[in-house]
Amino acid sequence: MGDYDTLSALLAARHSCRAFRPDPVDRADIERILTAAQRVPTWCNSQPWQVVVTSGEETYRLRAALTAEAARAPQNPDLPFPTAYTGARQERRRTCGWQLYAAVGVARGDRAASARQMMQNFAFFGAPHVALITSATELGGYGALDCGGFITGFTLAAQALGIATIAQAAPAGFSPFLHDWFDLGPERMVLAVVSFGHADPDHPANSFRTSRAPLDEWVTWRG
Ligand SMILES: Cc1cc2nc3c(=O)[nH]c(=O)nc-3n(C[C@H](O)[C@H](O)[C@H](O)COP(=O)(O)O)c2cc1C
Repeated sequence: MGDYDTLSALLAARHSCRAFRPDPVDRADIERILTAAQRVPTWCNSQPWQVVVTSGEETYRLRAALTAEAARAPQNPDLPFPTAYTGARQERRRTCGWQLYAAVGVARGDRAASARQMMQNFAFFGAPHVALITSATELGGYGALDCGGFITGFTLAAQALGIATIAQAAPAGFSPFLHDWFDLGPERMVLAVVSFGHADPDHPANSFRTSRAPLDEWVTWRG
């Protein structure tokens, strides 16, 4: 296999895992994922991420506390959440939401069931590990962009080791809580978490795959 084929196969095989087995990932493998992911480019090579990785009891304590917080507190992310999804983006968002609900048996319009599924975000879908991704506040949107590249690198490196991942912005909605919990000052911006571990391949939440738009929907060729 050539390099392109290898990379394409990894990109195609990666998907967001929403049901994990509880068994932990070896520390050496987590270090390999982090070491590979940090090779992504950043503006001025600033490498603006700081990452907290939880394991074992720490993940379970965080899960319980964040679930309680999410049931109680209003959302207050450091990086403002999108204000609208319109047009094709709205369509794609709906489609992937319906795919998930159909997979796990949430009927359209069943708000209680969809809220229960949403709350799974704060239990990290059962993942044994969480990587909290923060950026340097002073770098603004470009720091966040660099960290987005890191998240992609993380998910692909994990995939290459057979480790499942999901990037989640939902926990970042409770940024004040996460600042307190992890003792983060205002100079850090909470962006997202990546929950990771070994997939539960038979769980219905892992039974669907999202699609991608054809090139002619989003590429403009000039010259
Ligand atoms: C920055 C970012 C934030 C995301 N936040 C969430 C989230 O809070 N909850 C969730 O279930 N999925 C979340 N996702 C996963 C997306 O829904 C998923 O990547 C998208 O639907 C494409 O599906 P795929 O990852 O399986 O290819 C997020 C993905 C990214 C990149």
